[in-house]
Amino acid sequence: MVTGNIFPKVTLVGAGPGDIELMTLKGLKAIKNADIILYDALVNPEILSFAKKGTPCIYVGKLFNNHAFSQQEINELLVEKALFYGHVVRLKGGDPFVFGRGSEEISYVESHNIATEIIPGISSALAVPASQGIPLTKRNSSESFWVITGTTSSGEISRDIALASQSTATLVILMGLRNFAFIMAEVKKHRHKFTPFAIIQNGTLPNEKIVIDTIHNYKNTIDKIDYTLPGIIVIGDVVADHTSFLDEEIQRVLGASF
Ligand SMILES: C[S@@+](CC[C@H](N)C(=O)[O-])C[C@H]1O[C@@H](n2cnc3c(N)ncnc32)[C@H](O)[C@@H]1O
Repeated sequence: MVTGNIFPKVTLVGAGPGDIELMTLKGLKAIKNADIILYDALVNPEILSFAKKGTPCIYVGKLFNNHAFSQQEINELLVEKALFYGHVVRLKGGDPFVFGRGSEEISYVESHNIATEIIPGISSALAVPASQGIPLTKRNSSESFWVITGTTSSGEISRDIALASQSTATLVILMGLRNFAFIMAEVKKHRHKFTPFAIIQNGTLPNEKIVIDTIHNYKNTIDKIDYTLPGIIVIGDVVADHTSFLDEEIQRVLGASF
């Protein structure tokens, strides 16, 4: 119920990669203080249980081919709900400024003279490989990493994938599973065929899935992808640090010799 004076404000909160314990204390505090919460598809709904009893929580998520609201409708809802309820927490998966359209929402809200605050979150781009023991940089192995979208707004693969493949950087590709075959075909043009890669789905959650292979074998992994789950692709020598990599290589060599 709305009582007293309304002080409209929108706080954009990064909910982290999935495991609720990977949300920041500041984000948690904002959720506890929210008068209403608007949350996305990749937010772990368990986080909502920390809100005050009775806090309205509206799902505004966008999953492939299934958008609860358009981006313009979400922008308008933020303003409308802030004016009606007061403190709106806009909860997004990972970090709201990494492929999250967070800056567009903030600009829209500010253009209506409503106060805003941004609480960063741990991006899946960093947390998902790390929680699997895959370092994005490593001395003498990887001096940098690129975080790239696998699907641009026009549905194609980003030209940055070709550019990044020509460097020695670790590639971290978000939203790339539906274009996986095109992405790997491009990377294979520039990288050594034994370069390892990983596909990690539902990272940091109990039902996490990981597939590891080398790029010349990428076609064998296409059937192992579950397109209903979010996933990231990590490509680079650092993937060999994963505990299962050596086992898989040994199995392959043994399989080839018998
Ligand atoms: C729209 S982007 C949002 C990224 C988010 N802002 C972040 O910083 O993590 C959604 C993509 O993030 C990746 N992603 C998010 N959470 C993930 C998870 N728990 N496991 C694997 N990939 C994830 C997937 O590539 C998914 O398609």
